[in-house]
Amino acid sequence: MKLTVIGCGYLGATHAACMAELGHDVVGLDTDTDKVHLLNSGRAPFFERDLDDLLAKHTASGRLKFTASYAEAAAHGDLHFIGVGTPQRAGENAYDLGHLFGAVRRLAPRLHGPAVVAVKSTVPVGTAPRIAEILHEFAPAGEKVEVAWNPEFLRESSAVEDTLRPDRLVFGFNTEQSWAEAVLRQCFAKTIEYGTPTIVTDWATAELAKASANSFLATKISFINAMAEVCETSGADVHQLADILGHDARIGRSGMRPGLGFGGGCLPKDIRGFMARAGELGADQALTFLREVDAINNRRRERIVGLAREQLGGNVMGKRIAVWGAAFKPDTDDVRDSPALTVAQNLHELGATVTVTDPKALDNARKTHPRLDYTDDPVAAVQDAVLLLHLTEWPQYGHVDPRRLATRAASPTVIDGRGTLDAARWREAGWTVRALGRP
Ligand code: UGA
Repeated sequence: MKLTVIGCGYLGATHAACMAELGHDVVGLDTDTDKVHLLNSGRAPFFERDLDDLLAKHTASGRLKFTASYAEAAAHGDLHFIGVGTPQRAGENAYDLGHLFGAVRRLAPRLHGPAVVAVKSTVPVGTAPRIAEILHEFAPAGEKVEVAWNPEFLRESSAVEDTLRPDRLVFGFNTEQSWAEAVLRQCFAKTIEYGTPTIVTDWATAELAKASANSFLATKISFINAMAEVCETSGADVHQLADILGHDARIGRSGMRPGLGFGGGCLPKDIRGFMARAGELGADQALTFLREVDAINNRRRERIVGLAREQLGGNVMGKRIAVWGAAFKPDTDDVRDSPALTVAQNLHELGATVTVTDPKALDNARKTHPRLDYTDDPVAAVQDAVLLLHLTEWPQYGHVDPRRLATRAASPTVIDGRGTLDAARWREAGWTVRALGRP
């Protein structure tokens, strides 16, 4: 099929490349011409496993092309996915839908024939009718343009795999007999054939699917991190507790890793945007628990800063601290709302000299947190440090030899914010080890 993907960030660029991999003829649109240029050369403007390979393969095969021109995108085909960002509005909990409505307004006047506009961006429930209204008013094809809601559940770091083999497909339509359904079923035919559960529903349910999935995931993480707080005061071990709970199939261990909590461009802003929308709808009471989920999450960051101060005699002023990790999670270079960088920045503001290392995210971290020191070598980061903080669990940190590292540190003390270092091995190598949620 000939289709377009509007917005080529983490979601859109991945979707475009994966649609080409499924055999479609794809044009990706982004208004950032540098990004378009890079994507056309077969490279992603961010790090995502397997994505560069797919981009290179399909820009070369001719099935994938990027443009900054709405005219070109609109003329390319009659299925248009929209995957632009919907960030948190500055100073508020609500979503900023400026990019989304902007994209729809620019696309609409160029739609001269029947078309399906399938929206993947995460939005407050009730956005679909507003998009349909704009399209019907401003598209020459009028009501022949159908809006479909097709939420995306991919995770950064496994985005390609999640897109090619999703755990479910959700299609939301306004009418029961929708032409758009046939179009989407054709587009995802291979995915559906592969046995992917496919749920066809109304707009509101499809919109809510994403908000509620992310809220559940955030709640699960904050639940185990609340248990970590209790463990810290009672001498219990939250990692063992999570294992024990996880054996109950109704609870499940996955998505319940205790630690420094959730960050990134999705979970934090989605629970806030969801609360804001529930307030507008008069259902605010239903979601007040999400305020607590957010608060527990933020307390984890404060707890690490508190532990660092405690470990350094109450004052971090002038002390050299090493931080392992800048990305909001391993296997990405995304630093949006990164717990690791929040902690590093707080310690810097308290007067510490903080050196941050990360295998992939240093360029992004330098832009958002220019006052911190950086090195790409985790061993060099620890040179003369009185404290090491392990804040993003990149697997390679588990392979650093703690014995060798101890000779570099001014004082071999580590706080493990993710609970993935082998504490016994580090203690044997002479380190004082503290961890969140462990005695
Ligand atoms: C999240 C959802 O998992 C995706 O399903 C969704 O599509 C995406 O948001 C989105 O809205 O676009 P993502 O933000 O890429 O995906 O990352 P996750 O793997 O969910 O991790 C989010 C944060 O939670 C990270 O900071 C991670 O370190 C933390 N986390 C995750 C934990 O602290 N414990 C866990 O058990 C899992």
